[in-house]
Amino acid sequence: MKIAFFDAKSYDKPSFEKYGKENGIAFKYFETKLNEDTAELTHGFDGVCAFVNDTVNAAVIDRLADNGIRLVALRCAGFNNVDLRHARERGVHVLRVPAYSPYAVAEHAVAMLLTSIRRIHKAYIRTKDFNFSLNGLTGFDLHGKTVGVIGTGKIGRVFIDICRGFGMRVIAYDKYPAENSDICYVSPERLFAESDIISLHCPLTDETYHIINAETIAMMKKGVALINTSRGALIDADALLEGIKSRKVGAACLDVYEEESDLFFEDFSGHIVEDDTLARLISMPNVIVTSHQAFLTEEALDNIAETTVRNIKTFAATNACENELSYH
Ligand code: NAI
Repeated sequence: MKIAFFDAKSYDKPSFEKYGKENGIAFKYFETKLNEDTAELTHGFDGVCAFVNDTVNAAVIDRLADNGIRLVALRCAGFNNVDLRHARERGVHVLRVPAYSPYAVAEHAVAMLLTSIRRIHKAYIRTKDFNFSLNGLTGFDLHGKTVGVIGTGKIGRVFIDICRGFGMRVIAYDKYPAENSDICYVSPERLFAESDIISLHCPLTDETYHIINAETIAMMKKGVALINTSRGALIDADALLEGIKSRKVGAACLDVYEEESDLFFEDFSGHIVEDDTLARLISMPNVIVTSHQAFLTEEALDNIAETTVRNIKTFAATNACENELSYH
């Protein structure tokens, strides 16, 4: 099979080459993202492999379908960038990798939190310059603090376990709470009011869009630390900026950003970034931004490639796949 692989990065290739060769799948790597302008590149391929910031809307699906593509294999878990209804209408099957390493993402969330509240990002730059002053580096203990977790699925659950290891009190909100679990579920209002730290681990849906907004920030404790490793549009970035400026929000750890698709994964160090909200957020001493990096571990990359290749192979052989989205 020949698969058009969009938004390809150097770190993708080793694992996809390995599993592709073993299973008779040839990937053609395109550095460009999939969108209305690039969908024509799929002509002559048997399927498409796409990632989080590729556009798989109705217009793109129409072009793929017109090119005879019946298979879009997402190499990620989230699928908010895909018009599933339209895919089904056009007979395009969308596969995904539902889990590859919840540890990678949960551990990154904790890494960002510790970096932020213990000012490691400041200390690293200081000591590189032989500045051994401690002024302004005072942090706070995680032990005994309350962490509010929104979304207690695979990643949220691992994050909860890590937080418990630190001796934190964990409360959570999930629209579909886990049955018979030891998690203390509360209403969103109570979670916002009681948490010293809030971490987002729910998917982006119509209901969770801007779940962190001016109104919900107003309900939070002064100095709250917010972590988002899920999807950017869970947070209204302008409201977050106001919350930081008013000192209501004490720290923000952002691995994702609503308008990330034109920026993240690329080097803009020599350019003028047009997004004033992102530029202002990054300029804040208590904001840490990583560019959708939480998934990026060796274990996760290997699992992503293995599952994506297995999905494609299973679908090609049986016309079905347990990780199929658009027909489920
Ligand atoms: P999951 O499906 O195992 O868990 C999601 C949880 O959110 C479920 O328990 C679900 O009931 C809950 N949920 C659904 N709707 C909700 C709502 N309206 N309010 C509150 N909770 C709700 O997903 P998993 O694997 O834990 O991933 C979570 C998210 O993490 C993904 O949707 C994805 O957006 C993001 N992610 C980010 C990565 C990164 O590199 N930054 C990598 C992988 C995933």
